[in-house]
Parts: sequence; C-alpha cells; structure tokens
Amino acid sequence: MQKAIGIIYDEHRSISAVLSGLKSLAQMARDGSLRPDFSVFRAMIYYIDAFPERMHHPKEDAHLFARLLQRDPAARELVDALQAEHVTGARLVRDLEQALLEYEQTWPGGAEKFSIAVAAYAQFHWNHMRREEADLIPRAEKALTAEDWDAIAAAFAANDDPIADLREKDFKSLYQRILNLAPAPVGLGEPWKAAT
Ligand SMILES: [Fe+2]
Ligand SMILES: [Fe+2]
Repeated sequence: MQKAIGIIYDEHRSISAVLSGLKSLAQMARDGSLRPDFSVFRAMIYYIDAFPERMHHPKEDAHLFARLLQRDPAARELVDALQAEHVTGARLVRDLEQALLEYEQTWPGGAEKFSIAVAAYAQFHWNHMRREEADLIPRAEKALTAEDWDAIAAAFAANDDPIADLREKDFKSLYQRILNLAPAPVGLGEPWKAAT
C-alpha cells in the first residue's frame, strides 16, 4: 500500500474513534441519573473541528484530489461531491458546537436532542470517509504516479503545517486528553457522578 494511503487511513481511524466515542458518550448522557462531564464533549468537538476540518480535508483538497483531477479528469463529479461534503461538514461542526452550548444551558434537559445531533453528524462523516476509501482511493491508485504519491505522502506527513498554528503533535496530545477525560467504556477517565 502507498505510504500516503496508509496515512489517510490512519487519520480516518483516529477521526472515527473520536466520532464513535462522542456518539457513545452522548448516548450515555441520556441517562438522567448521571451528570455528564461537558469538558470531554468540548474536547471531542474541538478535535473534530480542528483535525478533520482544518487539516485532513484541506490536505485532501489541495493534494490528493487536485492530483487525481490532473491525471483523471473524469473523476470531476466524484471530487466535486466530496469537496462539497467538506464544506457541508464544516457547517455541521458549527451546528454541533451550538447544539453542545444549548445542551449545557438546558441540562438536564436537551440530552436527547444533543445525542440525535451527534449521531447524525457522525453518520455523515462516516459516510464521507467510506466514500473516499471505497470510491476515490481505488481510482487514485489506478491514475496517480509514484511521484504523485510521494508528494501526497510528504504533504500528509508534514508536521509543520502552514494552516493556522496546528501541529500533528498537538492532535496526538488532544487525542490523549480525550481518552483521559472520557469515562469507560470510551476512555480511561473517572466515571460520571450521580446527578443531584
Ligand atoms: Fe474528506
Ligand atoms: Fe478523508
């Protein structure tokens, strides 16, 4: 497998793990006898905003998608659809941030509404990644040259990303923080206390 594809798969797995943890915790928060730890929700949504929306997707747009279009112009429709999903995803993350703020304000009400919003976002993002892995990457494997793959791998592996001031290591430590905050079975954090 191309190194670049391995990196993209790894990034999808990290995003997917956070989405799945967020979905489980939002579901757990529907149990009104527990007080959810809102800081873990904030950390997870921050991760989803900062890592996929500001690093992973822009790199796909600028490197993987751009090179695929050069080599295989007939991939235009697929690339346009996936890029449109990047734009929609950015808007949906804003909506999710709003939903969390609203939930914090209305707790102990609002748990069901929040968990429905989380589940819908997670499904959207999973569908997007599945489409990239099932449709776009096989197409890129046929069309791209070794030189293309090297350039894409270099872009994805770059720790020194020009976008904002975000670094790969920051995401690794944020991911660790999420694991340390989230209660079992999602992470290693303290169980949520009983609501009083
Ligand atoms: Fe994407
Ligand atoms: Fe992706």
